[in-house]
Amino acid sequence: MALSTAITHLLGIDHPVLLAPMGGVAGGALAGAVSAAGGLGLIGAGYADPALGFGSDDWVRSEFGKAGNHAVGIGFITWALERRPAALDHALGFRPKAVMLSFGDVAPHAAKIRDAGAVLICQVQTLRHALAAAANGAQIIVAQGTEAGGHGADRATLPLVPAVVDAVAPVPVAAAGGIADGRGLAAALMLGADAVLVGTRFWATREALGHANQKALIERSGGDDTLRTSAFDTARGIAWPEPYTGRAIRNAFADRWHERDDELRAEGEAMRERFFAAQRAGDTDTAVTFAGEGLDLIADRPGAGELVRRIVDEAADALTAVPGRCLDPAPAGG
Ligand SMILES: Cc1cc2nc3c(=O)[nH]c(=O)nc-3n(C[C@H](O)[C@H](O)[C@H](O)COP(=O)(O)O)c2cc1C
Repeated sequence: MALSTAITHLLGIDHPVLLAPMGGVAGGALAGAVSAAGGLGLIGAGYADPALGFGSDDWVRSEFGKAGNHAVGIGFITWALERRPAALDHALGFRPKAVMLSFGDVAPHAAKIRDAGAVLICQVQTLRHALAAAANGAQIIVAQGTEAGGHGADRATLPLVPAVVDAVAPVPVAAAGGIADGRGLAAALMLGADAVLVGTRFWATREALGHANQKALIERSGGDDTLRTSAFDTARGIAWPEPYTGRAIRNAFADRWHERDDELRAEGEAMRERFFAAQRAGDTDTAVTFAGEGLDLIADRPGAGELVRRIVDEAADALTAVPGRCLDPAPAGG
């Protein structure tokens, strides 16, 4: 089964499924597997900050190599590029199919990305940001609801997606936030989106980077176990601008430090080192595992290609089942 949309045509792909560029989780093997299965994989370069263990120029080169012959894209956190704009130039050298920018003003980078022949994808969290992205030449706009894993803001996917679709037409929109199976893809298409951008569900795949303990935690946690917090960013010494917070799985560290950022900051460098050590060791009581409300729908760890096909097949089933279930051609008494 194939689902053709404006976004599959624009990107020249078979399925309207985009892999979210999850920083340090979406490496080249995962992105390549999603593209090989007919979606679009995006490598997660995040902050382009060598200190975090992912996103350095060497890391980016190595991950593009792991994608093999499959055309993939790359994503950056926009405000972080202000500190190291050369990271974008370096990534464009690998001729990515698309570049996704999230969280910040895309104006300084938009022309460079499009001139390099990459499709400019902008992820937004509000209508105001959607209109700004369209005005700056975004070719695909991702409307991200608060259900999403990782960083985001407060609007919910269900009302945000159709509002963005209406506001930025004819620019095609992908829906993100809480989409973890084919029912979510079918619902997104019903809202007027032309694709989905999926993060958390792809965390629990064989090709995703990250510690095995975190993948296991994802498989056994549910949406009720997540919270939006800035505690993990404060612990890592990353100063996110308002209004962004990160949705992650609640753990002992979050229980202790949520909404106590000033006190946490006062713990200083020793705390930061302890935090990064826990992250490297996969100590999930302390480390951050960014994940979204779609966790309830995740119980296994398939290969990413199998997951793309599963989501598309489920969506096709859902789309064909609804008319039979709900449309009554001859209402009784009518
Ligand atoms: C582990 C993780 C890391 C993420 N890192 C990034 C990132 O570096 N840049 C970015 O634009 N979005 C990032 N996101 C957010 C995704 O782009 C996307 O909006 C989100 O995953 C969609 O919601 P879902 O997780 O419910 O599928 C991340 C999400 C997760 C789960």
